[in-house]
Amino acid sequence: MGKVLITRAFPFAALKRLEAEHEVDLWDDNAPPPRDVLLERAANADALLTIITEKVDAELFDAAPSVKAVANLAVGTDNIDLEEAAKRGIAVGNTPGVLTDATADIAFALLLNLARRVSEGERQVRDGEWAPWYPTHMIGGDTAGMTLGIVGWGRIGQAMARRGEGFGMNVIHSSRSSGVPLEELLEEADYVSLHTPLTAETRHLMGAAEFKRMKPGAYLINTARGGVVDQVALREALSSGEIAGAGLDVTVPEPLPPDDPLLSAPNLLVVPHVGSATIRTRSRMADMAVDNLLAALAGRPMPHPAS
Ligand code: DGY
Repeated sequence: MGKVLITRAFPFAALKRLEAEHEVDLWDDNAPPPRDVLLERAANADALLTIITEKVDAELFDAAPSVKAVANLAVGTDNIDLEEAAKRGIAVGNTPGVLTDATADIAFALLLNLARRVSEGERQVRDGEWAPWYPTHMIGGDTAGMTLGIVGWGRIGQAMARRGEGFGMNVIHSSRSSGVPLEELLEEADYVSLHTPLTAETRHLMGAAEFKRMKPGAYLINTARGGVVDQVALREALSSGEIAGAGLDVTVPEPLPPDDPLLSAPNLLVVPHVGSATIRTRSRMADMAVDNLLAALAGRPMPHPAS
């Protein structure tokens, strides 16, 4: 029997399977444990089930010398120092595949909401600013016939492409190994949607030069990681009208404080990192994380190792 620290409230059926075989120390709160508490609680754990807000790094591994496995409740692993884990022989797993559709749904919801100004219209109604119908009231962008540029051609990017095609959009993509060069995509797309992991290579992939290349009426959608976008450059691009709008599910930092300068930019829609937030998706993510832990603690390879 091993000892597993779960770093957040975990109301999923998968918990029972874990508890049947191992001792579980559950940080039963929706807020993250303070760092010192995390280090202390991890001290005698054999495995960790972590959330994207936890920095899983050398400091944590030093504080938790018995840890041999980390299961991240996410497909992204940018919160984990994978190299450090590999050096120490610690297995790391993630939850690919199960959140593809839910995340693409949020990306497309942001796209439609921005284009058709749904949130803005709702605010007008509630604020008593609903004017009698007139021809230019709330006019926005089209989808059919427009070009959707997908940056990153993994599962979620391809699921976004299917949604775009369903709406009659012309879909192009750019990735390390296929599609068109990023510059070409930025010049052609009416909507640019980001679907890359956050790595040293993709940090600030969208900066001032990239926003300049985008069409003046184009929109940016980011459901990947906040760090893929240079937010100072984004604010400038929105404020100067260089691009028409942006829809973000992810930011730096998260949560984004209400007084963050980014929020003063026009035509910006931000939702609080909810890409995978459906009941079925989160339960499946929990199942995969627990499967990873059960395997690793039994000395078997994780079924969903982070690559
Ligand atoms: C992920 O899985 O990486 C998301 O950002 C959280 O669901």
